[in-house]
Amino acid sequence: MSNIMKLSSPFQGIILILFVMLGINSASAAATKINVLAFGAKPNGKTDSTKAFLEAWNAACGSADSTMIYVPKGRYLLGSMAFEGDCKSPQITIRIDGTLVAPGDYSVLGKSANWLSFEGVSGVSIIGGALDAKGPALWACKASHTNCPSGATTLSFTNSNNIRINGLTSLNSQMFHIVINGCQNVHIQEVKIIAAGNSPNTDGIHVQLSTNVEIINCSIKTGDDCISIGPGTKSLWIERVTCGPGHGISIGSLARDLKEEGVQNITVRKTIFSGTQNGLRIKSWARPSNGFVQGVRFINSVMRNVQNPIVIDQNYCPHNLNCPGQVSGIKIRDILYKNIRGTSSTPIAIKFDCSAKQPCTGIRLQNVNLTYLEKAAQSSCSNVVGKAFDLVRPNSCL
Ligand SMILES: *[C@@H]1O[C@H](CO)[C@@H](O)[C@H](O)[C@H]1NC(C)=O
Ligand SMILES: *[C@@H]1O[C@H](CO)[C@@H](O)[C@H](O)[C@H]1NC(C)=O
Ligand SMILES: *[C@@H]1O[C@H](CO)[C@@H](O)[C@H](O)[C@H]1NC(C)=O
Repeated sequence: MSNIMKLSSPFQGIILILFVMLGINSASAAATKINVLAFGAKPNGKTDSTKAFLEAWNAACGSADSTMIYVPKGRYLLGSMAFEGDCKSPQITIRIDGTLVAPGDYSVLGKSANWLSFEGVSGVSIIGGALDAKGPALWACKASHTNCPSGATTLSFTNSNNIRINGLTSLNSQMFHIVINGCQNVHIQEVKIIAAGNSPNTDGIHVQLSTNVEIINCSIKTGDDCISIGPGTKSLWIERVTCGPGHGISIGSLARDLKEEGVQNITVRKTIFSGTQNGLRIKSWARPSNGFVQGVRFINSVMRNVQNPIVIDQNYCPHNLNCPGQVSGIKIRDILYKNIRGTSSTPIAIKFDCSAKQPCTGIRLQNVNLTYLEKAAQSSCSNVVGKAFDLVRPNSCL
């Protein structure tokens, strides 16, 4: 290891000197600008612009410079498309002043897993813009029929690094709005997510198998989880996010598989939940697994009329399929709930329903004040070990 370091640093020094001599540095290098209109995209919301966007992407991706793909005002009809790496360009910024719209017929996207997917890219930023996936027709199909397509995720990043999403609005996704899967160093900021409170499986932001993801200053109104945190999520930072309607912030469902990567080092700060089904939830199927959740800090949350403000549910077994009579193998430890206040819309504001096989340990409640109908609410504990500090209302059952 140290030999490699010794060899590489003089080499890096020479490259740096060359760059300085040539007057090139990343701060001064202006990005090559690529306008999607030049590739035939039409801002009329009717002409299919998929091919034009792909060609613009290929031009950006193949460029040796930092590039900016510019999408001017207007509506652009796009089918399912993949923006694939590896790219020559070290930085690709997609600056959107317009709205990207999905086809009106949901079956066109419905069979694809994703509408707009980025795969194996590095240094990609999306700035501004709106994505309108036209989900309501598919939700209506799901509400009245059984043979509807499952629907597409609006925006996904897979196996990608150094990603920024800033100032984007996602409207009415068919399924999940944004998925971060197998990524490192992802910064999501000032994102707005909007879908009906009864829209099915429209999770706001789903993160899994990813490290160093930040979600800051976002507003998420949707039908399913505000943010869902899947297996293999490490070092996730969530700050100043408002949720509701929806199902709140959820770690899990875990224990889908026997061999599952753990979730660790998760910080959730300054969140507001309004009228959500859950506030801060950890949930696992009642099934065997060697997965775990550890090192979670939930700090400074306000609950407004939340059904389950604080909940750990390790006995998740919807429709009693493939899990009755089993217990969760997921090990939950070292979870802090600090400065959590507001109102519960049900009598039980704190519920720790842990696994009989792997009790929850190191659960800490500090300065929690949750009320129900202006009275103290209740808490419920099973298979949990931990401590309460300072004021805790309802009275802790730890
Ligand atoms: C988030 O929003 C607050 C208030 O609007 C602002 O002061 C802060 O700078 C923002 N943070 C980031 C990282 O954009
Ligand atoms: C935990 O995550 C934060 C970012 O959310 C990071 O700064 C910190 O280094 C991580 N700690 C460990 C021990 O990985
Ligand atoms: C707890 O919250 C209730 C309702 O918001 C409030 O009336 C009460 O004063 C709070 N208790 C403490 C000790 O802060």
